[in-house]
Amino acid sequence: MGMDIADTISCLAAAGKPLAVHGFLDDDTSTHGSKVGDHPVLGGLADAARYPDCLFVNGIGTSGSRHLKPTLITKTGVPHDRWMTVVHPRAFVSPSAKVGRGTVLLANVSVCADAVLGDHVMVLPNSVISHDTVVEDYSTIASGVCVSGRCIVRRGAYLGSNSSIRENTVIGAGALVAMAAVVTRDVAPGITVLGSPARPFEASA
Ligand SMILES: CC(C)(COP(=O)(O)OP(=O)(O)OC[C@H]1O[C@@H](n2cnc3c(N)ncnc32)[C@H](O)[C@@H]1OP(=O)(O)O)[C@@H](O)C(=O)NCCC(=O)NCCS
Repeated sequence: MGMDIADTISCLAAAGKPLAVHGFLDDDTSTHGSKVGDHPVLGGLADAARYPDCLFVNGIGTSGSRHLKPTLITKTGVPHDRWMTVVHPRAFVSPSAKVGRGTVLLANVSVCADAVLGDHVMVLPNSVISHDTVVEDYSTIASGVCVSGRCIVRRGAYLGSNSSIRENTVIGAGALVAMAAVVTRDVAPGITVLGSPARPFEASA
């Protein structure tokens, strides 16, 4: 996910925004001093304090790590106003929609009328957040997802690639919707659902 975000920032820079990628922070010490693409791994999350002039973007985007997001973001010590909201130049955000701090919208995402996205939400390419839908803090919407109108995606939920969510549906906090699942009714907090129509599944992720 980090490289997709770096690419997006490069696209924004090419479109005239005064931005550049300085590097990555990763708590895996074996990566320190190496490069991801052209960008150096500068240190661990706690090293954020060494870069007082930088803005930060969270790159956590896998289903297995979704519960760690709030803790890892807090661990950086980065104040709320220095998390950058990243919107790809080819994403569409309705003028009536709201997008929170530290939220990332990758290429070809559409955020439709009166949708509300919280803080540290990640939306991967080609996903649609339809009108009047709310996506709460720390949630992840993987690629090619369709969230229909007036849904609520509660805090820290994860919608897997190509899943579809019926209108007026609530996805519970921390729930995981599997790849290609078709969700036709509310999903309880913390569970995984799979299939078409989606049903509860005992997952290891
Ligand atoms: C549902 C999910 C969490 C299951 O992961 P897991 O617990 O590791 O389970 P496994 O991969 O061992 O699969 C268990 C069984 O479910 C099946 N399965 C896995 N994902 C499935 C899916 N999305 N739809 C239908 N069946 C699925 C597997 O084929 C396997 O069946 P089997 O026992 O008959 O062989 C995972 O497959 C998934 O969909 N994660 C979301 C991934 C995603 O969207 N990533 C985006 C990254 S950008």
